[in-house]
Parts: sequence; C-alpha cells; structure tokens
Amino acid sequence: MAQKALRIAVIPGDGIGVEVTPYGVRCLEAIGEIYGIPLHFEEFEFASVPYYKKHGDMLPKDWKTVLSQFDAIYFGAVGMPDEVPDEVTLWGSLIKFRREFDQYVNLRPCRLIEGVRSPLAGRKPGDIDFWIVRENTEGEYSSIGGKIFEGTDREIVMQETVMTRFGVDRVLKYAFDLAQSRPRKRLTSATKSNGINTTMPWWDSRVREMAEKYPDVNVDKYHIDILTAHFVQKPNIFDVVVGSNLFGDILSDLGPACTGTIGIAPSANINPEGKFPSLFEPVHGSAPDIAGQGIANPIGMIWAGQMLLQHFGHTEAAEVLLKAVENVLARSEPDVLTADMGGRGSTKILGEAIIAEIKAIR
Ligand code: NAI
Ligand code: MG
Repeated sequence: MAQKALRIAVIPGDGIGVEVTPYGVRCLEAIGEIYGIPLHFEEFEFASVPYYKKHGDMLPKDWKTVLSQFDAIYFGAVGMPDEVPDEVTLWGSLIKFRREFDQYVNLRPCRLIEGVRSPLAGRKPGDIDFWIVRENTEGEYSSIGGKIFEGTDREIVMQETVMTRFGVDRVLKYAFDLAQSRPRKRLTSATKSNGINTTMPWWDSRVREMAEKYPDVNVDKYHIDILTAHFVQKPNIFDVVVGSNLFGDILSDLGPACTGTIGIAPSANINPEGKFPSLFEPVHGSAPDIAGQGIANPIGMIWAGQMLLQHFGHTEAAEVLLKAVENVLARSEPDVLTADMGGRGSTKILGEAIIAEIKAIR
C-alpha cells in the first residue's frame, strides 16, 4: 500500500542554521529511502535575516496558510543580533510558529551518549536518559501585564502568570502518556508550591488528578530549586520531567547541558493533535561567532530529524538514525568530530560520516 508522504517544510534560517540543515535533510532522505518512508521536502527562505532585509518582514503575509499544508516544520535557527534585533527576528518567526500553531508541548531528550563527555564527573552513557516536557504556550510567559508611571518614583510593573485547566491538563496528559510508554514509568513534576502559593499548589492538584488516571506511573514532585540541584547531582533518577513554561525552559537548557555540548541537543515543539504542523529544531541558535566557517556540529539538527520520525510513528527508522549518530560518536575520531566536541572535523566531514553510517547499519 502506498503511504501518504510526510510533507516537511524546511526553513534553514540564519547563520549555522543554513550550514547544518542540508545534513539533517540528507540523513532523513537516507533513512526514508531505506525504510520506504515517503518524504516530501520543500525549502523556504523566509524566517531569516536576508529575507527580512529584502521584504521588511520576517514572513510573507500568507505564511500561516502556506505552512499549514505541511505535517512538520524542520527549522534550523534564526537570528543575527548584530544586524537585526532578536525581538524582531525570533518574535517575527519562530515564536509566531510556536504560538499560532499551538505547539503546546516542548519536548527535549537528555541522554548521555558514548563518545560525548558529560560536564558532570563520573557519569557514563546510560546514566542519564530522560525527557523534559515543557508547557509551551501559557504560564509565566503571558503578555498580560504592563507598566504605569514609567520613569517616576511610582513606577509599577506587573506580569501575570496565566494557567488554565485546559492548558495544564493537556500538557500533563502528554507527559503522563510519555512516562507510561517508557520502561521506568516515572514522572517528576517541577513545582514551587512553597513560594508561589496560588498557581503552583493548583498545578500540583492537576498533577494529582491526572495521576489517578495513570495508576501504573510513579509520580513525584520537587520544588524547582532543589530539582535543578538534582539534575546535576543525581540525573539518573529521572525518566520524564514535566514543568510549566518558565520551569520547563530552565530545565530544558540545564538537562541537555549536563549531557555535553549544545551542538548535539534537539528539541520538538509539538501540536499533539496534528491540527497544526509541529516544529523540530536543534536547541542551539545561529551561532554568529562560528557561522560561515563550516565547523558547526550538525548533530542537533540531525537528532531533531530523528525526533520528527519518532513523532510520526516511524520508530524503527528513528532508532536507526540515532544509532548511526551514536556509532559515529562512539568511535571518537578527532578528524571527524567537530571542535565543540574536541575534534578537528567539519560540518561536512561529520555530516557525511553519519550519512555513511546510516547506509552501513542496514
Ligand atoms: P547559540 O546557540 O547560537 O550559540 C551559543 C554558543 O554555542 C556559541 O559559542 C556557538 O558557537 C556555540 N554553538 C551553538 N551551536 C553550535 C553547533 N551546532 N556547533 C558548535 N558550536 C555551537 O546562542 P547565542 O549565541 O546566544 O545566539 C545567537 C543567535 O541565535 C541569536 O540571534 C539568538 O537569538 C539566536 N537563537 C536562536 C534560536 C533558535 O532559532 N531556536 C535559539 C537560540 C538562540
Ligand atoms: Mg531556553
């Protein structure tokens, strides 16, 4: 039976986004070919500084209609802060996608891979292997608030945290489902109910209520302050960690940082119902400091493609793609690894090595 093609909008963006994207696409193409997964790619030049300079806007007027026709967005990175301020580039593109496509789950793996040195002493591959689920649309990052009496002694600023039963329950459900699908079936909730004494006790109560529907999932919770310490001191205890927008944001940088370089970390912004496209991207930005040198690590981008495959249920293909990355890293060849991993390789050398490994594994 002919499968319906997965339609993927490719947006390379700026800086190293443009350099790593082709390797991500080629890895997906290679895997797609092996597993008979029909993939349809279409590349867009918008959501970039060059597009902005030409058109005076980050996106065309009809961007939402155009991108809505895709199953997924495969996004490099955006931003050239020396040329255009970040609030124009990021808010004019990536943040619009996340909000308007209701990508309410931000998902990041924290996994220590052989061949990548953890900044935490004494941790070996297998010790760290968990997921962070961040609420991605509301919470502390609301636009409700304002300033009055600006510049005077009476100056007042306020910004409200907004949590809705709808918004919290749906992200908790995603996190519980994920925990239930994993061998350890463990879910940790990030809270701060001892300090933030309205929204956070309420968050805890939503977690308790959801937990009743998942009797096989072990649930615990930590206040965010000690939770960050545990990420560093005993990352092995975690399986799935769920947090509000702010707590999730902090944890989802800290977690991957504990597993090595930012250059390999991927991230997915998911609209689980598939009403809108989900967005898959590396965690890193456009890295203007190394852009144009051909030395960016392509693994964050490639691993984001792996999350895309996993999201659409191509589990075996996703496993092989990750295995290919792991095999190349495990060989620890200095001529292949990029500088951020202590090597002398280039984007091209490392990217090609992974593509070759995908073909060899099979
Ligand atoms: P960044 O992630 O671009 O770079 C931080 C540091 O990590 C730099 O020293 C860079 O060279 C290094 N690095 C990042 N990715 C790497 C890779 N693949 N291989 C090797 N080294 C890598 O963050 P920064 O410098 O704060 O931001 C630069 C621009 O990117 C800004 O305009 C920022 O707003 C934007 N940005 C965009 C994001 C996105 O599109 N999702 C995410 C984060 C930042
Ligand atoms: Mg962040």
